[in-house]
This record gives sequence, C-alpha cells and structure tokens, in this order.
Amino acid sequence: MRKLTTISLLAISLTAAAQTHVIDVNTKKLGAPIQPTMYGLFFEDINYAADGGLYGELVKNRSFEFPDRLMGWEAFGTFEVKDDGPFERCPHYIELRDPRHGDRRSGISNNGFFGIGLHEGEDYRFSVWAKTPQDSARIIVQFIDRATMEEHQEFAEARLTIKGNEWKQYELVLKSPRTIQKAQLRIFLDGKNTVDLEHISLFPVNTFKNRKNGMRRDLAQALADEKPGLLRFPGGCIVEGVDLATRYQWKNTIGPVENRPLNENRWEYSFPYRFFPDYFQSYGLGFFEFFQLSEDIGAEPLPVLNVGMACQFQNWNDESAHVPLDQLQPYIQDCLDLIEFANGPVDSEWGKKRAEMGHPEPFNMKYIGVGNEQWDDMYFKRLEPFVAAIRAKYPHIKIIGTSGPDSEGKMFEKGWEAMRKQKADLVDEHFYRNEDWFLGNAAGKARYGDNCGGLRYENYDRKGPKVFAGEYACHGKGKKWNHYEASILEAGFMTDLERNADVVYMTAYAPLFAHVEGWQWRPDLIWYDNTRMFKSCSYYVQQMYATNKGTHVLTTTMDKQFVAGQEGQDGLFASSVFDKNTGEIIVKVINTSKQTQSVALNLLGLKGEHTARTITLCHDGMDDENTLDNPELITPQEGTILCEAGKKNTILNDQLQQMSFRVYKIK
Ligand code: AHR
Repeated sequence: MRKLTTISLLAISLTAAAQTHVIDVNTKKLGAPIQPTMYGLFFEDINYAADGGLYGELVKNRSFEFPDRLMGWEAFGTFEVKDDGPFERCPHYIELRDPRHGDRRSGISNNGFFGIGLHEGEDYRFSVWAKTPQDSARIIVQFIDRATMEEHQEFAEARLTIKGNEWKQYELVLKSPRTIQKAQLRIFLDGKNTVDLEHISLFPVNTFKNRKNGMRRDLAQALADEKPGLLRFPGGCIVEGVDLATRYQWKNTIGPVENRPLNENRWEYSFPYRFFPDYFQSYGLGFFEFFQLSEDIGAEPLPVLNVGMACQFQNWNDESAHVPLDQLQPYIQDCLDLIEFANGPVDSEWGKKRAEMGHPEPFNMKYIGVGNEQWDDMYFKRLEPFVAAIRAKYPHIKIIGTSGPDSEGKMFEKGWEAMRKQKADLVDEHFYRNEDWFLGNAAGKARYGDNCGGLRYENYDRKGPKVFAGEYACHGKGKKWNHYEASILEAGFMTDLERNADVVYMTAYAPLFAHVEGWQWRPDLIWYDNTRMFKSCSYYVQQMYATNKGTHVLTTTMDKQFVAGQEGQDGLFASSVFDKNTGEIIVKVINTSKQTQSVALNLLGLKGEHTARTITLCHDGMDDENTLDNPELITPQEGTILCEAGKKNTILNDQLQQMSFRVYKIK
C-alpha cells in the first residue's frame, strides 16, 4: 500500500470532499483513567423484572401468601387454605381432600406469570413441601395446555408419593415435549388420602450457571453480555415503597426462600392497562442472589438502601410519611448490617448468614447508595447520620447520595450542594429526557432548546463528589419507545460521559427489564415474553460502550476544535480511549445528522498501516425498533477498514451513514 504523509493525506481528503471532518486522536498521551465501573446496569423489580422475569420461578403465588390466597391458582374439588404451615413468615398452604363423589378429583392449577413458558426438551424441577395425615398419599403433577381444549390437556405428567405427617420437601423433574408460552401447572390428588401442599415451585433446571433458585438463563446471559461494571439493586422507587410498610427491607430477602415474607410491589397500582394487578415481591431474588449474580456477571454490587423515607413522589412534601429523625437508628443499622452481610467474617452475625447461604467468602462490596432519587432538606437531614455511622465503622465503603429526579435546575443544584457538604463519594443523577435534551447536553453549544445545558460534564467541579449517572434514557417525543433514533442520541450523549471519565465514574441506563404483558414503564433495555426476549437498540449502544470502554481517555478534537456536535461539525460526536490491557486505540464516532458524513481519523503518534476492526449500529428507519418477532432488525455489525500510514501517524478515511454509530478498534 502506498504510504502517504499526514500532510498529503489531509490535503487529499480535504480536496476530495470539502466536508471531510478530521478527527485528531492523540494516541501518545493518556488522559484520565476510566473506572471499571463506568458502564453498569440498574435492576429494579418494575415491569415484572424479578418474579415473572429474571428470577427463574415459574409459579405465581407459590406460598399462597398473596392477599387473595388463591390468586394465580384455580382450585377444584375439596380444598382448604390453612395458615399453620411450617414457615413462620409464610404460614399459608393448601390442603386437598377426597371429594367423595365418584370420579371427581381435587386439585389446583397455577397460571404462572402470564402463563408458564416452557421450552421443548428442557427439564423443569418441580418441588413442594408436603405432608399427609395418612401413611402416604399421591399427587399427579402435570403440564397442561388449556388453550388446545383437548380432552386430555396434559402433555407431561409425573406422580409423586408423599409420606407421613412431617413437612418434607419433595422434588421431581419433568421434561417438556414442546415449547409453549402459556402452559399451566396442574396438581391433583391421586387416590383418597389427604395431602397438604406448601411452597409449590417450578424452575427450569437450566438456569443461569445452573443454580437452584437461579435466574432465567437467556435474560441473565444478556446481562453478562453487556460486560457491566456494576449492578445497582434493588431500585428505584421500590427501595422506598409507596409507604414505609412496603419499603424494600433487605433482611426479609435472605435465608430460606420458603420463609421470605411477601411484599406488595411498589408498582402494583401503576399499570396503565391492567385493572386487576397482581404484582407482589416473593423476594426469591433477594440480596444474596443479587450479590451472587453480580459476581457471576463480573459486576461490582451496588446496593441502595432506604434512608428512612417513603416514596417522595407519592408523599409529596409530607414530612409525616417519613421516619422521624430520632427514630432512624434501625434504618442506619440495616446499612451497617448489610455491609457485614456482604463483607463480614463468617463468625460475625451477618457474615455467618451469608456463609450459611453458601458463600463463606466475602462479596467484597465497595459501594452503598443511601436513598433513591431523594431531594430537599427532608433527605439531606436524614442522610447525615447514615453518613456518619457508615464512615465511622466502614471508612472504605464509598457512599452514594442522590440529586433527586431533576437533571438540572434549583432542586438539582441544591442536591449537589448538600452532597458536597456531606462529602458523599458519588452523586446519583437521574435523567429521563427527550431527544433535544440528549443532543443538547452532549453538544458544544446549547442549540437544541432552552433546557439543554450543553457539554454537561465538562463544566463539573473536579474536586467534588464523582458522578453516578444512575438512571437515564432518551424518552422520545410523540410516544416513541425504544426506537432507533433515541439510541443514536444516547450514543452521542455518551461521548460526554466518556470524555469526562475523570468525574463520571459510573453510569446505568434505566429501567433494565420489561415483560411485554406486564410493563408500566418504557423504554426499557431488554424485553421478553415467557419464552423469548429481545435486546433494544439502546441495549446495543450500551454494549458497544461497555465492551469498548478502554482504560484511559485520549484527547480527541475535530477540525482542531473540541468535538461535540458543535456548529460546523455536522452533528458529529466522537470520543476515544486507549485500552492498556489489549493495546487498542478505540474511537467512537456518532453521526447524529441526517446526511452521510466523511471523516478522517488521524491517529497521531501511531505509525504504519493498520487494519481497524469496526462495530457499527446503523439503520434507516428512525422509528423502528427491535421486537419479539424481529429481534435482530437492528443489531451492530462488525467489519474492517484499512488505515494508511503517514510519517508519524495513521489515517483512517470513512463515510458514516446518517444517524449511525461506529466504533473503530486499532491495535
Ligand atoms: O426507573 C424507573 C423509576 O424512575 C425508578 O424507580 C425511579 O428511581 C425513577 O423515578
């Protein structure tokens, strides 16, 4: 290949296409280190993200603890719900008795969460706690398909013998001969002897990492594939609850699953289209599972605990809805105990509980969020004693405060000021905003509306707390959800996060999950029904950043100016990093204009010819989105581009299609 000098190459590209934008990347001088936590995940049990989603349990109301004890079940024959079961905090169970009428049977069937999803050839582990007042009794366990209206609806079946009057757990494995979205689990009495059934559970055997009480494999794998730097849990407003009684209490979520008390989900009453909500938290996916999942997917665990406040939105300015200042101690103790649960030695009170659950090694938790999306003095004064107590006992734990729900403005500033005063290590910012906001906040000039600051993080105080952009997503105007355009604007905005890695330490798109039949908030990163899932375009944008995050920022300019979609830059955004571990220079360029743009990447300090690997997200239909039926309509594509050698540089010429995002990787 012909070798060109920098000057002649630039001259060629500038004459060939007047609008070629030259992006200079200084590959010799490493800028700020990029935190390994930079691109993370935010998990909240909203949109049926836990029960009915990531958590592998397929039976709804498995312990008969929903306020309507048989919600999710249909019972027939002679039965009774009783409340003196073996699990103190989940005392209900069902008794099936002989109906004494010829051929009639007694039994129950469970509808799952919008049906029970099964895959052909997969094994499912059925388990139940049971006893019988007689010597023994038998039950029949079936998968059924009521939709077929066949005489025999069962398509898999097994028998189980229950022995004796002591509660014991029984297990069997059923293979599904078909893939089905909406199966049911039916259990009926086989014979005349009475049986008591409690905590009736059905899991795929093939959960993520094959764990019992594990996660739905495809969904957990999608999390792992993001290579997330952190996992924030359990929310979101769910941390607060609509009132203090329904707040998330982590201590209720550990220990044997059979004895974790049910909680009403904070999002129970917020479905725009479901008038008979049935949204409760079994806590099967509790704090132990959260720490374990974080470990499994290589993410730093970032728990967020209640600061003594019920949901501020729900209880606007109502001081009486929150815990009085002199009664905060149990809440503070919850934080201290959680740190001990995660990190404490096995002979400490809470470390012992972790060890008993199967993880004697510490989880090595480093961060704690105190309060979710809180604001104003009500929050600031409650936070203070938490900070003091955590600092005194665990000085190495990083504390994350919040700046509330606003992305800018008086309340936001007040939040930041308070966090600076209290010396929070990080501040959790939330911004669900429209297209203009996203462009305007990344761009060099505020030309996208009054509310758009421009170069958001360039202007941040470098000495104060660091930023955790803990919940954000571009919410399209005109009822557009997860559409392609939004994801490209998010990609453009994210150059500002990356460029400012010295102050932005963590980020997470939100929310993470949504069941297509049970959502209340959109857009979301990953959607699913009972057997299928798809990743949104925003998922791919997050993944393109997270899997190419590098270790150090590289100074990048365009046409000798700061590069951030400024006037004259034709809607182009760019940022670059170096990855010390792989020796790669990684440049991200986003074309947010409606025209193809020519760019010349000028890699200053890199010599010789190279082949750049590329990853491109590019699509023509701005309102298009991936769907369950067309999950791969918009996915990143890999390619290569030859880079030419200059004297002291390497040049890569490229054409970037309108509204597209390309990552270039050069060794
Ligand atoms: O992500 C959905 C909700 O948005 C979260 O629960 C809350 O923190 C924010 O208001």
